[in-house]
Amino acid sequence: MVTTQIDTTVRIAGKTWTNPVGVASGTFGFGEEYASLCDLEQLGAIFTKAVTPEKRDGNTPPRLANVDGGMLNAIGLANPGLESFLQLKMPKIESLPCPAIINVAGASVDDYIKVAETLNHHEAIWGIEVNVSCPNVDHGGMAFGTNPKVLGSLVKQLRKAYDGPLIVKLSPNVTDITETARAAEAEGADALSCINTVTGMKIDVNTRRPLISRGTAGFSGSAIRPIGVAAVWRVSKAVSIPIIGLGGIGCTNDALEYLLAGASAIQVGTALFSNPKIPNDITKGIEEYMQENGFQSLSDFHGHF
Ligand SMILES: Cc1cc2nc3c(=O)[nH]c(=O)nc-3n(C[C@H](O)[C@H](O)[C@H](O)COP(=O)(O)O)c2cc1C
Repeated sequence: MVTTQIDTTVRIAGKTWTNPVGVASGTFGFGEEYASLCDLEQLGAIFTKAVTPEKRDGNTPPRLANVDGGMLNAIGLANPGLESFLQLKMPKIESLPCPAIINVAGASVDDYIKVAETLNHHEAIWGIEVNVSCPNVDHGGMAFGTNPKVLGSLVKQLRKAYDGPLIVKLSPNVTDITETARAAEAEGADALSCINTVTGMKIDVNTRRPLISRGTAGFSGSAIRPIGVAAVWRVSKAVSIPIIGLGGIGCTNDALEYLLAGASAIQVGTALFSNPKIPNDITKGIEEYMQENGFQSLSDFHGHF
């Protein structure tokens, strides 16, 4: 059999990942926690848990529940806060063998700017991913990512505060995701992650209470994959910056669907809870698919179907 010389590298904002398979924010801690469970060297990139200016304990439990086709979570951005992150997590991030992208969150524009400015020019960090699914206290709790104007203004200010790769993570909880995608691109985003969790809810009919203490939650896992693939496909027609696809990826074919729909790279999230090695398997699977089909680079098939 003739073997094709394959190149799995991905370039975003002039910086490279060795392969297109990353792990999603909130499902892989800050990386080090998974060192014994997954080959970190083989990961395209690690997207960390969200970092906010102040420490957050998150929402009152129960805040996780299994549901058909995935899970509900309302963790509420529990994280050690910026200062502890820099002291305790950053030294570990510096020794990670793959790119680390810090997920940034906040309740106001100032929160986001504070984290982004502090991380600016931190050599160990590959870039930042902005979680815009957070409630905006200045706008009555409406999420930053649901209004193109509010999102555009946030991205504009972040672009001034942060010089490295700026990735905006789109919420699927909107009428037209191409509008928020265009707003982020217009104000200087280098790439888009697509998608965050879908709003969901489950009620226990015996207790007549929702399973998650605060009622609604973020729905993730295999059931949301068709929503994510459709979003990537539509957004890829609307913008020209790279898209990192996620939502319900659990095997090589799921990842290939996203790449074919127009994603330049992907992230594995909820599926990690049942098997932390899935990203390594998917990377190998993509290489095999490229060999079998005679593709030399990801651009030979990404966005083609
Ligand atoms: C327990 C949990 C925590 C999460 N925390 C974050 C977070 O801190 N920031 C963020 O942008 N997304 C967060 N997400 C969303 C995921 O990164 C991802 O967008 C979503 O789960 C869809 O992908 P999946 O179906 O592969 O899990 C979280 C998801 C889960 C399940």
